[in-house]
Amino acid sequence: MIFTLSSYNVIQYLQQADLCSSEDGASAKRLPETNNKNANLLVTLKGDRTLLVKQEHQIDDNRIPQEFFKEWLFHQLLQQFPVLGNIAEIASLVLHFDEKNSILVRNYLSEYFELRKFYQSSDIYPLEITTAIGSSLGVLHRATFNRREYRDFMATAPQGQFRYQYYNPAQGIESISSDIFGKVPTEALKFYALYQRYESIEGAIAELAAAWKPCCLTHNDLNLENILVHSRWNQLDNCLVRLIDWEACAWGEPAFDLGTLVASYLGIWLESLVVDTSLSLEESLQLAAIPLEILQSSILALIQAYLSAFPMILEYRRDLIQRVVQFAGLVLIQNIQKSIQYGRYFDSIGIYILQVAKDLLTKPQESVMTVFGISESEIVRPFAKLTKLPQANKEQNLVRLFNNKSRLRGC
Ligand SMILES: Nc1ncnc2c1ncn2[C@@H]1O[C@H](COP(=O)(O)OP(=O)(O)O)[C@@H](O)[C@H]1O
Ligand SMILES: [Mg+2]
Repeated sequence: MIFTLSSYNVIQYLQQADLCSSEDGASAKRLPETNNKNANLLVTLKGDRTLLVKQEHQIDDNRIPQEFFKEWLFHQLLQQFPVLGNIAEIASLVLHFDEKNSILVRNYLSEYFELRKFYQSSDIYPLEITTAIGSSLGVLHRATFNRREYRDFMATAPQGQFRYQYYNPAQGIESISSDIFGKVPTEALKFYALYQRYESIEGAIAELAAAWKPCCLTHNDLNLENILVHSRWNQLDNCLVRLIDWEACAWGEPAFDLGTLVASYLGIWLESLVVDTSLSLEESLQLAAIPLEILQSSILALIQAYLSAFPMILEYRRDLIQRVVQFAGLVLIQNIQKSIQYGRYFDSIGIYILQVAKDLLTKPQESVMTVFGISESEIVRPFAKLTKLPQANKEQNLVRLFNNKSRLRGC
């Protein structure tokens, strides 16, 4: 029987783990669940110290998943290899991991806010923030790129279990069975039907999966809930942002992390679409309450900061920009599926997003302009002189996947 944490027993648990004492005047509260996977408790201690205590839920057969193990392993990697010290600054310190009960304790960063909430409440998209995210990610990928000792370390398995297989995120939606009828809204069924009708999507995902080359440490879940921004971001020169929730981190594909971020920004635009039966997709895209141009500037600042921190990646991934666009399309589709699975509200915007995502996946070269607002060669040109790669070569090596001349509609 696994010990279950609650706001009643968490303080005693922390005292036994030597993370606080009876003089700390600790108080605990449960945070609303963001997913069905784990419970989060916030414990406030004397002297403005706050801890976030997380416990993974048990799954049916009395087992608990071991996702926290990966975050713990990442933390151990930073301890084991002091040369990675600067990476610790972009994350949040892990203080304790209890493998048996799957409990993880993190330092809670009270001065930071979730980036999604920041955008929702301020409705501004400062380039300083996306620049900070791009350089933090570039630093992480560059510092770990092709380093066998880090790769082997990250392949450590929890006690008594097998080593992790590399996880290839380029996966489509599994074929749906008839028991889905009645469980999901009609609009969601339309989404599945349309997805299955677009054969080109499956082809593009298969190609993305085949091209997948794990080469550095990746976060693998860079949505806007897992990025924190400092409350005084406009007065700081560094540590503007922190990347949290490293439960999915692994040896992986850099374009996937970038694609996930791009999908988050495109998602802000797409979720602000005006949907009406009298409007075409093109009209809806143009009438979005948050215009694409605003998000394009943020996405461009992000990729430019990333490439400034890690220009060498262009020597190894000549098709990086197009792969990023494809992964962004894939993540948009995966996000819709997650929304349906978790029973969140689903409406026809999901259908519109699928159509945009399809273009990103199947026509990446044409879609670069839509995503970044400038062409692929304009993006990489300033960094070409920082790498050994001649510009002409780079153009030749761009893989043209589909011979479709049309640009993404509405853009
Ligand atoms: N170290 C931290 N400092 C401040 N806020 C945090 C920290 N860790 C998590 N949070 C907040 O708690 C939320 C849930 O934490 P997270 O680790 O992402 O768990 P989940 O697995 O539930 O997504 C985050 O989205 C963020 O708002
Ligand atoms: Mg999270």
